[in-house]
Amino acid sequence: MDLELTGRVALVTGGSRGLGLATARRLRDEGATVHLCGRDAGAGRAALDELGAGTGWSTCDVADDAAVAAMVSDVLGRHGRLDVVVNNAGRFGGGPLAGIDDAGWRDGFDTKVLGATHTVRHARDALIASGRGRVVNVSGVTAALAVPNVAVTGVANAALIALTAYQAQDLRAHGATVNCVVPGYTTSGVWQDRIDARAAADGTDGPTARAAILAERGFGAGARWGTPDELAAVVAFLASGPASYVSGATLRVDGAQLPAVSHP
Ligand SMILES: NC(=O)c1ccc[n+]([C@@H]2O[C@H](COP(=O)([O-])OP(=O)(O)OC[C@H]3O[C@@H](n4cnc5c(N)ncnc54)[C@H](OP(=O)(O)O)[C@@H]3O)[C@@H](O)[C@H]2O)c1
Repeated sequence: MDLELTGRVALVTGGSRGLGLATARRLRDEGATVHLCGRDAGAGRAALDELGAGTGWSTCDVADDAAVAAMVSDVLGRHGRLDVVVNNAGRFGGGPLAGIDDAGWRDGFDTKVLGATHTVRHARDALIASGRGRVVNVSGVTAALAVPNVAVTGVANAALIALTAYQAQDLRAHGATVNCVVPGYTTSGVWQDRIDARAAADGTDGPTARAAILAERGFGAGARWGTPDELAAVVAFLASGPASYVSGATLRVDGAQLPAVSHP
């Protein structure tokens, strides 16, 4: 299927590694011009080295509204358009619930919920001018599954699902869609590190460590880890022309890891 991304410009937040980098790679392969951001300039340089000429970078904390405004302005200055925003920036964790202070809660919310608010705020006119604006928000399974030490991320992920619906309503009269993907456990950089650490601690190998981590979370036999490329393929579809009548939707991308009924 032609995703009709040739000539489109896409911004991927948290694009320096993991799911964001895989998404950027996929969007580029589909013909889009991609601009990435993250807080670590060195990681950004490495991502650009991999993705090659034409890819842009901003060292930008999405929690900082002024920095996001400057980044969007930079993208528009370079390309004159912005068609796709992927709000992927986020981090895992929070620590034990009783120990999370207000700064910790705000940090999680500022990255995931305000971050996605900032990008859409500043990209809104461009997304409308595109005539085919696309926003994809990246939530996570912790929105629906209480995992130890992950309350900040989980509550922010749940809020991002709700924000998606409001953003979709705001933009629906302008031909722009807003959707949310909910990855299950996926072998991105952070999780790959944990899998490696678990295998080393248990004296086992990667597949055994991956299975142990899922089993501890009660996913049962047959559950498997997703790959960044599998998540990126779904994001690319939601960013595409053919996805024009999908908006306000929340889509689990977890290979049925979570034994839950998805409601429309
Ligand atoms: N991997 C999974 O199993 C999984 C499951 C469910 C949901 N998710 C979600 O998927 C997204 C990507 O996860 P991942 O596993 O790929 O994580 P990752 O490997 O840790 O990558 C996170 C990316 O976000 C960037 N980032 C973090 N905070 C930022 C901020 N305030 N401003 C700008 N960039 C920021 C990071 O760069 P810097 O740190 O340099 O800024 C990095 O590029 C996250 O939103 C995560 O919650 C992942």
